[in-house]
Order: sequence, then structure tokens, then C-alpha cells
Amino acid sequence: MRSASKVAIITGITKGIGKVIALSFAKEGMNLVGIARNKDDVDRVLDEIRQEFKIDTLGLGVDVSKSQEVDNILPKTLERFNSIDILVNNAAVGKLDYIIDSKLEDWQNIIDVNLKGVYLCSKTVLGQMIKQKGGRIINIASICGLKGVPRYGIYCVSKFGVVGFTEVMAQEAKEHNVIVSAVCPGIVDTGFADNSNYALTSPGNMLKPEAVAKLVLHLTKSSQASQICEIYLKPKNRIERLLKIKQRKTVIKRIKYLC
Ligand SMILES: NC(=O)c1ccc[n+]([C@@H]2O[C@H](COP(=O)([O-])OP(=O)(O)OC[C@H]3O[C@@H](n4cnc5c(N)ncnc54)[C@H](OP(=O)(O)O)[C@@H]3O)[C@@H](O)[C@H]2O)c1
Repeated sequence: MRSASKVAIITGITKGIGKVIALSFAKEGMNLVGIARNKDDVDRVLDEIRQEFKIDTLGLGVDVSKSQEVDNILPKTLERFNSIDILVNNAAVGKLDYIIDSKLEDWQNIIDVNLKGVYLCSKTVLGQMIKQKGGRIINIASICGLKGVPRYGIYCVSKFGVVGFTEVMAQEAKEHNVIVSAVCPGIVDTGFADNSNYALTSPGNMLKPEAVAKLVLHLTKSSQASQICEIYLKPKNRIERLLKIKQRKTVIKRIKYLC
């Protein structure tokens, strides 16, 4: 069933997981507000999606780490659509480095975009969702927000922060029927962090962005409580390895229900 009246804001919509989430929402008939730093790139992606799915879209060039820019999101969304149902905090940056080699400017940039950005964007829509008596906020965290991973130090800190922020906000927003969740994928086959993924493992060992989008879409519809879900690609078992079977399964390893 198409949910034509729903309006979803997605940050980091120009490529990777954000773009695939946008496609899966558009397929459901949702209207989209797309955000990334470069407005031309946002508009190009939204034009493609609008032509294919006949939905209504609004593109905004916003750096999620800058509060004056984030302040524009809600008024512009309401001017176009009158309401906001879903926010997906997906935009993030990363850099591979041992802590000992890392630079303070990288700390500031990664924490500003990945953690402050989630805080600013969530805060900007929360008041309106409370007025509307409901909404969903889904934060794309990472397995790096649940486990420390060498060389992903600053990124891990930012994503642990996102998971903690999600846990707090889920409890605070629950009484207003605003459901806040986090998705924590393992490595996903995108060009994230200047393709640093590919330095860690091969595409065959990575999740596809579609698997993340599927879970995010499920969370927009689920009547269940706020949750933190860890998803990853199941390793081949011994028989599969011996037979060289390439089929791998995406599994949800654990779900932590928050409230
Ligand atoms: N790929 C993985 O292995 C993996 C695994 C687990 C979790 N994740 C998480 O999944 C999410 C998406 O990752 P991805 O792999 O799809 O990344 P990606 O392909 O690099 O895309 C990142 C998106 O974020 C936007 N962005 C970056 N900085 C921004 C800023 N300051 N303000 C607004 N938009 C900004 C980018 O557009 P502009 O540069 O044009 O602004 C782009 O649209 C991230 O939260 C990431 O941490 C990724």
C-alpha cells in the first residue's frame, strides 16, 4: 500500500546508503526532502527519483554540522509539505587512522558531522513531530558504534555517541509517540570515507546498501518500540566455503529494544 501522505527527510541523499533509502521510500510513495552539502547533486538525485516514482521532492543544500544551515530545514519542509513524518540521519564522514596518527581537525570534523549533525537535525524536527503527536527518527549508526575497531577510532567515538544519543532520545520522545531507532550495519559496499572500506575487505564481504534500506523502511512501518539493530553479512560456513558457494545471508544479529 502506498503511503502518499508521508514526508521523509533524508540526510546524505546524494549517494551510497542515503540514495538507496530514498529510492525505497519513493517506491512506497513517500514525499522526500533530500539533504547534502551540494544542492546541485541533491537536485540531480531527486530529479531522477521524482521522474521514476512521481512523488514530490524538495532538495536542500545543508551542511548538517552547521546549526544556521540546519535551522532552514524545518521551515522549508513545512512551507512545501506542511508536515514531517520521518527523519533519517544518514549523513556522515569517516577516515581511517590509528589514534596516534590522527589529527585534531579530523576529530572535530568527524564528531561535528556524525554526532553534532544528528543532534542538530533531530532537535530541529522533534518539536514539530511532538506537535503532530508522532514521528520516526532513524539514525544510521554503525557496528563501529557498538564495538571499538582499530583504525576507526574517531569514527567509532562518533558512532558510539549516536547510539547513546538514540538511547536517550528514544526514552525522552516516547511519551510524544516519536519513535527513535538506530541501525548499526557492518561494512557496506559504498564509496564511504574515500573507499576506505575496500582497504579493509572485498565487496563480497560487504553488505549491500539495499539491505540497510530494507531495514530502515521496516522501521518506518513497524509498530514496535524504539530499537537498536545490528545487521551484518553472515560468514560462509565450512561446507559453503568448501563448495565455494558465493551466496551469503544478511542477518540481523541483535536487536536491543529501548522502550
Ligand atoms: N559504508 C559503510 O561501510 C558503512 C557502514 C556502517 C555505517 N555506515 C553509515 O551509513 C551512512 C551512509 O554511509 P555511506 O557509505 O552511504 O556514505 P557515502 O556514500 O560517503 O555518502 C555520504 C553522504 O553524506 C553526505 N554528507 C557528508 N557530509 C555531510 C555534511 N556535513 N552535511 C550533509 N551531508 C553530508 C554526502 O554528500 P556531500 O558530500 O555532497 O555532502 C553523501 O550524500 C553513514 O552514516 C555511515 O557512517 C556506513
